Amino acid sequence: MSLIKETIINKKTKEKPIWIMRQAGRYLPEFREIRKENPNFIKLCLNEKLSSEITLQPLKRFELDAAIIFSDILMIPYGLNQKVEFKKNFGPLLGDLNLNEISKLDEIDFVKNVYPVYKAINLVKNNKLVKEKSTIGFVGAPWTLMVYMINQQSPKFKLKDDFFKDQFQINRILIILEKFLKVHIKNQIDNGAEIIQIFDSWAGLLDNEDLPNYIYIPTLNLVEYVKSLNIPVICFPRGIKNYKNYCEIVKPDAICIDYEVDPIQIEKDIKIPVQGGMDPKILLTDKANLKKHAKKYLNIFKDHPYIFNLGHGILPETNPDMVDYLVKMVKDY
Ligand code: CP3
Repeated sequence: MSLIKETIINKKTKEKPIWIMRQAGRYLPEFREIRKENPNFIKLCLNEKLSSEITLQPLKRFELDAAIIFSDILMIPYGLNQKVEFKKNFGPLLGDLNLNEISKLDEIDFVKNVYPVYKAINLVKNNKLVKEKSTIGFVGAPWTLMVYMINQQSPKFKLKDDFFKDQFQINRILIILEKFLKVHIKNQIDNGAEIIQIFDSWAGLLDNEDLPNYIYIPTLNLVEYVKSLNIPVICFPRGIKNYKNYCEIVKPDAICIDYEVDPIQIEKDIKIPVQGGMDPKILLTDKANLKKHAKKYLNIFKDHPYIFNLGHGILPETNPDMVDYLVKMVKDY
């Protein structure tokens, strides 16, 4: 069994596995090389030869314990025929949301739109570089996807004033997303994903009273679905105010934490395996500081099942030498 699965399923605490969110990405010159020739990000995700090659790039350099498939959470709105583009120095930009059109879409149309993602997983899974390692598939959580679909851009600029106005529309979107996220999860698993991570990057935008409707219930439905397929599921509700409540209600197999929460408190409060936490900005400093901060997490979770990762995606300006140092340090711990 891979080290990550040993940690999640058998609660092994001795060796700490490591993988890094966005490990295949812009901090790697070999990624930038491919990206330069492929200005359309969605098209690149749909090129299974290149997307599987990109997925494997960090594994060629570092002794990571997992491959996470090079794709994006916004492949779901794309698969549902909402226009998605990535604008340089701006981020994702989505087209108008036409729910009547989306309602007519069936599973076959959707799968046709995103099929190369599954082929890429298959290619990665069968590559010798990931032997005895984990192939991680992922989806965005319904809440975070709905945020992008209605807001049409990142809510870091602003969430539309009338975002919550049309409750009928919101309920329809959540139902549609649940259906197609299950399809996406199932196809990733059928093609070799051994673990699923659910990214809820905008969990922190909601007040407590809205958590049941938009986060707890829709995510619990997906978590139960993944579990019914006998696959471990990791949830990352970034910025959620109460990780303990979240874990007790949503019951993922492992919880990924962001860099704003106190890991000591998490270790005390949460009994399930934990992943992540370290601030990605630490990788922009020096090796002594990196060692200090990485050791902090390793020491706190010494006797807890723990998967080393960051508290958000690795930053594009990171020097790959720092990643090399980090991975070796975690492996030698
Ligand atoms: O972790 C991995 O390496 C797997 C691949 C992956 C990507 N995005 C590749 C990517 C995963 C798991 C994601 C998840 C994702 N995508 C999230 C959830 C995690 C998070 O970051 O909060 C979100 C919110 C998105 C949506 C998204 N995709 C945004 C906001 C952006 C633009 C970011 C920016 O800094 O411009 C993307 C683009 C994206 N997704 C890139 C990569 C490697 C950068 C692509 C590029 O321009 O070269």
